[in-house]
Amino acid sequence: MVHTPGIWTKEQVEAWKPIVDAVHAKGEFQPNGQAPISSTNKSLTPQYQSNGIDESQYTPPRRLRIDEIPHIVNDFRLAAKNAIEAGFDGIEIHGAYGYLHEQFMKDAVNDRADEYGGSIENRCRFTLEVVEAIANEIGPERVGIRLSPYAEFMESGDTNPKALGLYMANALNKYGILYCHMVEPRMKNVLQIDDQCPHSLVPMRKAFNGTFITNGGFDQEEGNKVVDENRADLVAYGRLFLANPDLPKRYAIEAPLIKYNRETFYTPDPVVGYIDYPFLE
Ligand SMILES: Cc1cc2nc3c(=O)[nH]c(=O)nc-3n(C[C@H](O)[C@H](O)[C@H](O)COP(=O)(O)O)c2cc1C
Repeated sequence: MVHTPGIWTKEQVEAWKPIVDAVHAKGEFQPNGQAPISSTNKSLTPQYQSNGIDESQYTPPRRLRIDEIPHIVNDFRLAAKNAIEAGFDGIEIHGAYGYLHEQFMKDAVNDRADEYGGSIENRCRFTLEVVEAIANEIGPERVGIRLSPYAEFMESGDTNPKALGLYMANALNKYGILYCHMVEPRMKNVLQIDDQCPHSLVPMRKAFNGTFITNGGFDQEEGNKVVDENRADLVAYGRLFLANPDLPKRYAIEAPLIKYNRETFYTPDPVVGYIDYPFLE
């Protein structure tokens, strides 16, 4: 039949193989289609992305067995080692916004009954093991961590974010890492600012001995203010930097800023909305 594929000869089977492989490769995020790992087996309810695209269902995760955890710690250590080998100056451990580390740290997610769940100390154990392994591997002066104790992104909230943030700030001092980068409490999710938020990062800033970086909703003026008032050493900019690839220069010469476009946030195109905003002439 015209325009109809066949699969009865050996040649046809061979021709199908790369097609089947390509579809599998697109459809499976995880090696061999395994469930993604987590602290828990609990599923995430379907979420709407901040740009309005329905993410629909998520694959249920698989709770890591306690004997598997050292292997995951080792994967992080290896990744850091590889990053240095690739020429990076340092690495930032992503302990924010619902990723694996937060799935251990936050009590809305972590429902374990072993030494990696329950108390704050137990919930932070995995991340601190990763910090220690990486600091020992590449040197603490090359290590930073990003945390968002107050965020509730992807159902990763906590009943006592202040205690959690403070515990981490104090515990991190033991490893002498270069910096701690925390997301402001007013950022409930990645893009929404709660102007009435009564909480602050000042207690964590005071507790942590290294460089303290803050992030979330700052412009140039507010960024200067938070540093002047010694509430942080540095400010990290997200959306403004995305839309203004030469943001420091624009700040320095008080050039106008390009407005970011929310429609192209979190889209899979590697160029549009990510690297196509213009530099100053
Ligand atoms: C397109 C886009 C992608 C982001 N991806 C991540 C991410 O992968 N991990 C993360 O922790 N934060 C991510 N964020 C959040 C930013 O790191 C930052 O916390 C947020 O934009 C608030 O800072 P801002 O007010 O300076 O933009 C993303 C933000 C945007 C706009």
